[in-house]
Amino acid sequence: MYTVNSSYSKIPGSYLFSDIAKKISAFTEENPDADVIRLGIGDVTQPIAPTIIAAMHKAVDEMGDAATFHGYAPDLGYEFLRKAISESDYRKRGVDIDIDEIFISDGAKSDSGNIQELFGMENIIAVTDPVYPVYVDSNAMSGRCGNYIKSEQRWSDIVYLPTTAENNFVPELPQKTPDIIYLCLPNNPTGTTLKKDQLQEWVDYAIRKNALIIYDAAYEAYISDDDVPHSIYECTGAKSCAIEIRSFSKNAGFTGVRLGFTVVPKEIKCGKTSLHDMWARRHDTKFNGAPYIIQRAGEAVYSESGQREIKEQIAYYMKNASVIREGLTKAGYDVYGGINAPYIWLKTPDRMTSWEFFDYLLKEKNIVGTPGSGFGPSGEGYFRLTAFGTFENTKKAIERIVG
Ligand code: MLT
Repeated sequence: MYTVNSSYSKIPGSYLFSDIAKKISAFTEENPDADVIRLGIGDVTQPIAPTIIAAMHKAVDEMGDAATFHGYAPDLGYEFLRKAISESDYRKRGVDIDIDEIFISDGAKSDSGNIQELFGMENIIAVTDPVYPVYVDSNAMSGRCGNYIKSEQRWSDIVYLPTTAENNFVPELPQKTPDIIYLCLPNNPTGTTLKKDQLQEWVDYAIRKNALIIYDAAYEAYISDDDVPHSIYECTGAKSCAIEIRSFSKNAGFTGVRLGFTVVPKEIKCGKTSLHDMWARRHDTKFNGAPYIIQRAGEAVYSESGQREIKEQIAYYMKNASVIREGLTKAGYDVYGGINAPYIWLKTPDRMTSWEFFDYLLKEKNIVGTPGSGFGPSGEGYFRLTAFGTFENTKKAIERIVG
């Protein structure tokens, strides 16, 4: 008789955004005429930029011609894309990342969830709290988080690093030393970030403690402050202690296209074992490459016109972020984020719990957001709105909330 992975039975409910989707469906079934505005999941609304679409069309045509057809992609991804990444995302910022340290994937979510496969069960995991739920959920599925304590909304064996208004969203170095530290900066969900000297403290800490940082930089394109690093490798020593995960979803609108990459520097070693070689082994075995057409689309993101067009989209979303920030601040809400990130994080009014505020907004204002507690225990009493809606809907939503 077969058995199942019993760790799944410990995981509460369903994935945060599936829970929310179910609640929206139930509400719209009962209220079919409601004009529901969705500022919940961070899904983009602007179409893919023309330069990228043109590159995809061209690649589609190539696939229909025997002379230019492409089968399986190379294991790490096509060199044309890895070169563009190495040049534009790293070398231009003074960071030296070899193209063989870049692994192209079908998105940051898969890489964030899969990376934990490289690590032993005994590792102590630390996450900033609140944070993107995939890090904890994927470790919990592997049985690395202990037991879920429902009354405290936390896992027994995870080291939570609270980031709240009280510490200005800057996590303190932990008392209990973790082995693996997940940092998502700019942060999902709080929309806040760390300056370079603050991130350097984490890199120094990881080196001192022989810990590894998994750095999710999916939102780096939204950084506007000069003293905020776009990559952890801008910090001294990070190439020996940090893996970086990047996405094309939020900077180029690829949420439905799927493309991302992970940088595993060759110098990261656990004893004599190279994490780069392990990840390469895993990649070769379990992944057959992002599609050629999509990797050409990724390459076009780095072209001159591609860059100009995606910057316009980012500016569009950041205008939404200001509408949300300013509208809610004027109405007396405590509002954070939204300057270097497309997420706005607010304190729920009248001491409502995150889910109470979710229900209030959905039922009374027909607006969907994301309850802060879904991102970790320190998210309780907070709420996330995304700037990825259309401008018209964003304006309408804020008028409804403050009206
Ligand atoms: C979010 O809303 O947190 C993100 O869109 C989820 C994701 O990127 O998978």
